Amino acid sequence: MTDTLDRLERQAMARLAAAETEEALAAWRTAYLGRRGAVTDAVKAVGTLPPGERPAYGRRANEVKKALDVAFGARADELGQEQGARALAADALDVTLPGRQPEAGRGHPIRVVMRRMLAAFAQMGFQPFTGREVESDEYNFALLNMPPYHPARDSHDTFYATQPGVLLRTHTSPAQVRIMRRSGAPVRAVVPGACYRYDQPDASHNFVFHQMEGLAVGRSIRMGDLLGAITGFARHLFGEGAQLRFRAHYFPFTEPSIETDLRCTVCGGAGCRLCRGSGWVEVIPGGMVHPVVLCNGGIDPARYSGFAFGAGVDRIAALWYGIPDIRLLMENDVRFLEQF
Ligand code: DAH
Repeated sequence: MTDTLDRLERQAMARLAAAETEEALAAWRTAYLGRRGAVTDAVKAVGTLPPGERPAYGRRANEVKKALDVAFGARADELGQEQGARALAADALDVTLPGRQPEAGRGHPIRVVMRRMLAAFAQMGFQPFTGREVESDEYNFALLNMPPYHPARDSHDTFYATQPGVLLRTHTSPAQVRIMRRSGAPVRAVVPGACYRYDQPDASHNFVFHQMEGLAVGRSIRMGDLLGAITGFARHLFGEGAQLRFRAHYFPFTEPSIETDLRCTVCGGAGCRLCRGSGWVEVIPGGMVHPVVLCNGGIDPARYSGFAFGAGVDRIAALWYGIPDIRLLMENDVRFLEQF
């Protein structure tokens, strides 16, 4: 009869070793050691045996019960420890791991360069003024000496609104008349901002670009003042070694007019996409404010004169950073912008 007890013990021990969870352990305890468990039943079975077999059976049955009790306690401890170790491992903190760099914002290259340009002109007494991105035909063209039939309008590739006479400004120059009408003479102001043209984009053209208009009106302002202001600005931004080239040009709202080229910093003058192989980039057109424009601004051209310019911010930013294509500036690809 003790064979049955041996088998029962082996089976119980094997199942106990296989119990991996607290639930499995509790179920095991009920099945073997509980009030109606297999071991309890086996102990009770002593009464059904012939008297001669009872002492040996009873001794063995108690041994098995005690051994299983002890084994149960040991397994419970073991499981508890395993679980604790697992919990510890799950939220372990590895202090040797490299830290995570928080994403930091930064100024967009256009903004950064605009701020530098504003600072350079502020030193020469130019105050910032905000123009309008949605402009009227009148301010964008007519008041700048470009009446409706004027051929120079063709070169502006204008985005018109459905409302007649409303457009996206093609340049920051309309602010010239707004400034003169608001503050009269003398005045010195700069107007940074976005401009729009339905233009064929290439390395030095885009349909959204930025200009910084400059206007100085006063007594006996001359061409030399404009060249001096542009030269001072270029040296402030690009250093004393900045190479400039002035050329005669034509604009309806200035007379005479000039174009300023800056030596290409992307290729050092050898020729690239940005400078179209010429080694020079057109950056600051300007001239002496046309008498008609002064009149439109409410200023008497017999008493006052002025100069104006319209610096190309995107091209200046491209030269400043050595970016070979201004379209990159407005694509908002973070991988590109992160480099500045
Ligand atoms: N507004 C002109 C353009 O975008 C550039 C320009 C030329 C501005 C001469 C000026 C100026 O203020 O005097 O084509």
